[in-house]
Amino acid sequence: MRITVLGMGYVGAVAAAGLARDGHQVLGIDVDPAKVERYRRAEVPFYEPGLDELVREGVASGRLQFALPAEVEPGRLGDLVFVAVGTPSRASGAADLSQVEAAVAWVAEQHRKVKAVAAGPSASAGRDPAGSDGLPEGGPVVVMKSTVPPGTGRRLRHRYLETAGIAYVSNPEFLREGSAVHDWFHPDRVVVGSDSPSAAQQVARLFQHYGAPVVVTDTATAEMIKYGANAFLATKISFINELANMCDRVGADVEEVARGIGLDPRIGSQFLRAGLGYGGSCFPKDVAALDHLARVYDYPFELLRAVIAVNARQRLLPLYALREALGSLAGVRVAVLGLAFKPKTDDVREAPALDLIPLLVEEGAEVRAADPQAVERARPLLPASVHLTPSALEALEGAQAVVLATEWDEFVRLDWEEAARRMAEPRLVFDGRNALDPERMMALGFRYRGVGRGRFTAPWAAAVPAGQPAVDGFGRDGKAAAR
Ligand code: UDX
Repeated sequence: MRITVLGMGYVGAVAAAGLARDGHQVLGIDVDPAKVERYRRAEVPFYEPGLDELVREGVASGRLQFALPAEVEPGRLGDLVFVAVGTPSRASGAADLSQVEAAVAWVAEQHRKVKAVAAGPSASAGRDPAGSDGLPEGGPVVVMKSTVPPGTGRRLRHRYLETAGIAYVSNPEFLREGSAVHDWFHPDRVVVGSDSPSAAQQVARLFQHYGAPVVVTDTATAEMIKYGANAFLATKISFINELANMCDRVGADVEEVARGIGLDPRIGSQFLRAGLGYGGSCFPKDVAALDHLARVYDYPFELLRAVIAVNARQRLLPLYALREALGSLAGVRVAVLGLAFKPKTDDVREAPALDLIPLLVEEGAEVRAADPQAVERARPLLPASVHLTPSALEALEGAQAVVLATEWDEFVRLDWEEAARRMAEPRLVFDGRNALDPERMMALGFRYRGVGRGRFTAPWAAAVPAGQPAVDGFGRDGKAAAR
């Protein structure tokens, strides 16, 4: 098939390269000339394991090409046009659909040009004859990969596509950054939603050979499946984080609680890792957009609001814990390990470290931060005084405290003995991802604290300097709430 993919971010690039591997002729389009230039040289402008090879292979085979919109001949779009442009959050939490609208309008415009040429100079821009399922025949199919709020597809179809003779299919994407290439070829399920059964079948066939169950449904339902999946996973994370906070109070270990409850298949063991909460380009934005949609419909989705509130609180736990241990952070050297929102990506969108570091700096801490991939992306978003380095040991030099914010392998497997030598008293370790072994860390002379590992926190409290009032772990001294 001839396929066009609009938007060469990580979803679009993985889709384009994956479809090219499957033997399709794919054109990847992006509005950023620098990006297109790099892809043409078979370079991926961001870090995603395995994608470089896939893009190189596609480019070498001639099945994967790239272009700017202005370079595309109207007839070149092919059978399917995937839309994978960004849908960032507006200040209200609503999804900003301007890029999606522009992309869909552009496809309609291109198709009109083709029809005008085919019909000759007397052609009118009238409505196409309806196909057997009531939708226009003959045009390309727009396949929406971008995450758009339920109801958007039908609106886009009425506004831009129906009169142009283009069908619309919602085909939400469940790729995880860091394992996007693997996820593309091994989906758990494929969701295809359309008000045109023939268009839905055409897209479903594309993924048939992956052997995953295919959910064929209507447009709004497919859109809701994506939001439902992300909101549910976010809920699982906030739930385990709430349990973790309780574990800290009663002296239990959330890691064992997670194992104990996760063995029940109705609960499941995944997405029960307590820590600084979720970040990234999807969960925060999609949960906020669903919450916004609920407000638009005057429906108080209470559970979702709690999920968001817990997540916002969770990322500040290290700040409260350091205050509790040290009283004041003025002049304290703090190392933060991890800037990316999770390991194996250089994506820093909604990363906990990016909220935490400015607050530490505001309280007078001297912050040194390390990340193996994300330093360049994080630099413009952080106070200039923060020392940034790819090396954990360099960041730890002379630090009284370290916060593990992202569980990169490099950090988990660090030579912690050497780290202890390089750090200064009282050698506090706030393990924001419960990725380190508390007993080993304490044996090495660190004062360890995780999230919900209450039974290991006694030595931490002992770090409070004599005469300093201990601050409640949740910042009920008022300072944290002032944020
Ligand atoms: C997510 C969804 O998994 C994916 O299906 C969707 O298409 C896009 O959003 P991604 O954002 O790449 O993918 O990351 P994911 O691995 O799901 O992690 C999301 C966040 O949750 C990360 O910040 C991670 O640290 C956090 N997380 C995950 C936890 O805090 N605890 C967990 O148990 C799991």
